[in-house]
Amino acid sequence: MIHDNYGINEKGHLTVCGADTVSLADKYGTPLYILDEDLVRAKCREYKAAFEKYFPSGSRPFFASKALSYVGIYRIIADEGLGTDIVSPGELYTAIKAGFPTDNTCFHGNNKTDDDIEYGIRSGVGYFVVDCKEELYAVNDTAKRLGKVQKILLRLTPGIDPHTFAAVNTGRIDSKFGSSIDTGAAEEITKTALSLDGIKLCGYHCHIGSQIFESEPFCRAAGIMTQFSALIKKKYGYEAEIINLGGGFGVRYYDGQNEPDTDAFIKEISDTIRGVCEKNGMKFPVVFMEPGRSIVGAAGVTVYTVGSIKTIPGFRTYVSVDGGMPDNPRYALYASRYTAVIANKASEPCVDEYTIAGRCCESGDLIGEKMPLQRAERGDKLAVLVTGAYNYSMASNYNRIPKAPIVTVSGGIDKLTVKRESFEDLTHNEF
Ligand code: LLP
Repeated sequence: MIHDNYGINEKGHLTVCGADTVSLADKYGTPLYILDEDLVRAKCREYKAAFEKYFPSGSRPFFASKALSYVGIYRIIADEGLGTDIVSPGELYTAIKAGFPTDNTCFHGNNKTDDDIEYGIRSGVGYFVVDCKEELYAVNDTAKRLGKVQKILLRLTPGIDPHTFAAVNTGRIDSKFGSSIDTGAAEEITKTALSLDGIKLCGYHCHIGSQIFESEPFCRAAGIMTQFSALIKKKYGYEAEIINLGGGFGVRYYDGQNEPDTDAFIKEISDTIRGVCEKNGMKFPVVFMEPGRSIVGAAGVTVYTVGSIKTIPGFRTYVSVDGGMPDNPRYALYASRYTAVIANKASEPCVDEYTIAGRCCESGDLIGEKMPLQRAERGDKLAVLVTGAYNYSMASNYNRIPKAPIVTVSGGIDKLTVKRESFEDLTHNEF
């Protein structure tokens, strides 16, 4: 199996965290999201341990909750002592509802509205990650009006495209996020931030991308950000306390992908920052990072029931399931590849490659193509692996399909943590 938390029991059924996925599907219905809480906690601890080992005190991982946002996940994250990255007032509201300590949050987004800013400041958000000058002034003015001084980080673009990294090192200057170091916008906004008294500039933030499997782009970003901090110190006498390097650690979705070794990556990043600090006579800053996918990705599995199976001779065989792009839009959006298993025949060999289709009225509604599978029949349970990140959080009600529930499993024991939407829920706000 592609991750250690997946197994096959004596009945030949797929298990997650020791729980039988077929029994869970029978108990809760399909489609069903299953989340291995023990793995989520283990991942949190893995990051925390590496941070404690290689970064100065106060450094910590923030869970990027855009990967998975519901009340229960914030409780797990708070329990593990991580911060959380929120990107909208809706995520903030959910975190608050879970009792998450708001002073341990970073509020992101390239276009926070005035209402978002006021809600964030009133709620006691730890750090606003300020995207641009307009937002800087808006945060400053709102904080002053509320009689507060808001801590901020400035979102900068270090000019790295991790996916074409070797050839291009300025590929992301045109990103919609942040202020570019290369164009001088970053220095400009820093100078302005230092002149305002409704905010306290605590440092800098960057995020270079997602699904990154090499340490080199992270180290490169860490070097550029620390170097920028050195430049600002030299020119303006301000030394950043915090550098936040965003998320992006890759996750294995199929055989052949080599996941980053968290400890080794964090050590390399730490060595890079230390090198630049020593050269420039600076203190090693507090480091934040924001892993999302790598904390919840492998913990998630989606189970469906197989419906129709259609062979078009000479072309392909469709295996249709009772979910699809409403619960997992990632193939439709990005052609993202997954691994699937017939959960009730997990110990049988794969017999062919299939196209897994969803139930929506749209030919692009696919979960994947050329997917090796055991012989599929109507009524089988089909499990798609590694769906913990960016599935539930990106789910929709397209074709008026109610959202699937989430069942968490810990120590082999299952618990319903998000209820399946009802038809009534679908029309709840409609007159
Ligand atoms: N921090 C910031 C500022 C981000 O923008 C992101 C992701 C993260 C952290 C977390 O990155 P991660 O560790 O999860 O790679 N919907 C897409 C992914 C979009 C990611 C956007 N930002 C997908 O399904 O692949």
